Amino acid sequence: MGAWTEGRREDPVPCREADQGLFEITARDGRGRLGRLHTQHGILETPALLPVINPNIRTIEPREMWDRYGIGALITNSYIIWKHEGLKETATEQGVHALLDFPGVVMTDSGTFQSYIYGDVEVGVEEIVQFQRSIGVDIATMLDVFSRPDMNEEQVAECVRETLKRAPASIQAAGTTMLNGPIQGGLFKHLRTESAQGMGRFDFAVHPIGGIVPVMERHMYKDYAKIMLASLPHLPPNRPVHMFGCGHPMLFPMSIALGADLFDSAAYALFARDGRLLTPWGTQKIQTLTEWPERMPCVAGHTPAEIRSLGKKEMTAHLARYNLEVTLAELDRCKQAIRDGTIWRLAERRSHQHPALREAFLWLSTSPHNAKLDMQFLEEMVLDDRDAARDLDRNAGTWEGAWNWIVDSQETPRKGGEPWGGDDTLVRPHVDAAKKALQSHWKPYGLQAKGSDAVLVAYGSSGPWRERLSDLMVRLQHHCPGLEVMIQTPIGLLPYSLEDLNPFTHVDGPQWLWRRRPNPLLVRQELEHYGMEGRQIILVDLLGDGIQSRAMTALHQAGVLNGVTDSDASEHTLEPDDRMKAKEHLQRRHVADKMVLLLNLEQQWVNNLLEESTCVVNRLGRVKNAMLKDGTHIVSPRLTDGGLSLTDGGAIAVHSARTIPAPSGFTFSSESHVSKGPPWVVVNADAEPFVRQGRNVFHGFIEACDDWISPGKTCLIVNIKGELLGHGVSNGTLADMKSFQKGVAVKTRGGMKQ
Ligand code: GUN
Repeated sequence: MGAWTEGRREDPVPCREADQGLFEITARDGRGRLGRLHTQHGILETPALLPVINPNIRTIEPREMWDRYGIGALITNSYIIWKHEGLKETATEQGVHALLDFPGVVMTDSGTFQSYIYGDVEVGVEEIVQFQRSIGVDIATMLDVFSRPDMNEEQVAECVRETLKRAPASIQAAGTTMLNGPIQGGLFKHLRTESAQGMGRFDFAVHPIGGIVPVMERHMYKDYAKIMLASLPHLPPNRPVHMFGCGHPMLFPMSIALGADLFDSAAYALFARDGRLLTPWGTQKIQTLTEWPERMPCVAGHTPAEIRSLGKKEMTAHLARYNLEVTLAELDRCKQAIRDGTIWRLAERRSHQHPALREAFLWLSTSPHNAKLDMQFLEEMVLDDRDAARDLDRNAGTWEGAWNWIVDSQETPRKGGEPWGGDDTLVRPHVDAAKKALQSHWKPYGLQAKGSDAVLVAYGSSGPWRERLSDLMVRLQHHCPGLEVMIQTPIGLLPYSLEDLNPFTHVDGPQWLWRRRPNPLLVRQELEHYGMEGRQIILVDLLGDGIQSRAMTALHQAGVLNGVTDSDASEHTLEPDDRMKAKEHLQRRHVADKMVLLLNLEQQWVNNLLEESTCVVNRLGRVKNAMLKDGTHIVSPRLTDGGLSLTDGGAIAVHSARTIPAPSGFTFSSESHVSKGPPWVVVNADAEPFVRQGRNVFHGFIEACDDWISPGKTCLIVNIKGELLGHGVSNGTLADMKSFQKGVAVKTRGGMKQ
């Protein structure tokens, strides 16, 4: 295949000088993020794949990578260039971009990998960084010490220590050149964490996760996931994370869902030389193929047999392009999935492609339990393998914090249905986040009122439930206002007052999912979260006619309606006034429970606020707007996801509810934040006039923030005096607010004019 001649792509525009090295997030889905890394050779969009270019063997020309494939960055090895007289001379005289004929971002590695393969390298720590700087690379790499998975704890600790020791001199040698600070730590959780914390303190631009090539080569994907979870939560979030040597597309969805931003691939060329094709579900040999696993543009019109017949060199060139195209296509799928909020589901689907990947994924999604499992394993082996047991002991720890790091970054509620994927559905991080939020915020009402010793659990059918249940709800509200009605959904119990809340409401799956009769034991366990474990449970099937009379009969039989006559209970005998009152109460409850859940407000405060409030409902009976008794419109329930939109008037009311001091700095507290209101974001004086005009809050202008902020959460924007400037929706977590210097921090929904 000849050189690419069909059209040139423009050279990149250098970033603004002040932005060099900055990384910003433009979209996110949990820990998965789309970003922009600002460099002198363009703004690199992430997640990105950096093809590895061996300057001695160019399987695909870098220029073609730029022009044809739209590749924004590549990686080559400075040690190879340094050792090779001719390459060194050209690079020194003309720069690395000219050497490679590549106008985009050039990252170089330092020789660490060579020292892992060959035992040692001849170059000095500062010397190699200075060399990279002198040839004009955009992102250089320090000479870290490779930690292998077969090393013992002491050996790995030495790799981590020595890498950390080399960091200050390397940073100094790099000057203004962006520098990679690799994380080492072998398979030891605490050493990975120590490495991440230590390296994170230096002024590196990017953090590669190092020492993972042998882990991937041996398909130790569970360890790969553990390495990510032991490291990433401890790195400054405003720096891209690079998975060093990871170029197999099969690993992209899981890695990206866990926060990886950069990958590099020698695999596209190495596998091609070996006659192998990369696919998102593994690797296939061209010798065995009659059809293409995926028909990529570079082979369209040719069969595998035709490509085989071309001879080794030509075939390798075709397969390298094929592998690159497959890899880029999977990366595109991941990027779209982040935009669509489905990156975890893509990882979940891909986990079925390889048993080791499935093992990793199952470990991940059940990781809160892993400490226990590891400890059991430890007890079993402790007698016969003390060394291994000690390592495991060190490694066991708890992974709950790491799982929470994922869960706490999830946006919930979110638009769209929740496709049923078996048990995996229940452990999707945003589902876990939704359940945890409900369980920590929602509370039953009318604890002294009639019916408060019982719960009616409606099951058997998917939503919407409003039309089917609204008459019954009105009568129950009138006759036994203390009775709570919960709906059994495939992902857990949902209070009727929140009946349109995603993801509970829209689980897309077979009808039998909804038909399952609830297990009273499990129901009781769930009720425990709401302080209702002692209540009598009355099950009512939603399917079939006469739901009202069946429910009333069941309640009568259970003694919940004692004192209510049969005719009261079974006929439509409510006075219009009583009916209206009950209806209004239910509407108010709907709004109140959403405010408690989604604005983190105290139940009693909300009830007082909403006294004599009114609701505007649409023709289907859904509340559109809620108004205080003085007519102030405060919130609007959203139809798309069951969420709640705050108005300017609502923000003023909610701002006044705060009883704790404004946040100072970005400190995380172990205290519960429940009922303390929406998080406050304190901005500096420069930002104040812009926010008041309704403009977004940018990173770099934030002085302090409450620790319960998370992506998608409604927040209040205040100045340092605590005065309300506006309200909006957060794009990040507390750590994001603290560390990012570029990009939108809060999407402002309303500003308070002065
Ligand atoms: N390439 C693959 N793994 C590594 C690593 O751990 N460090 C460096 N510098 N390069 C690598």
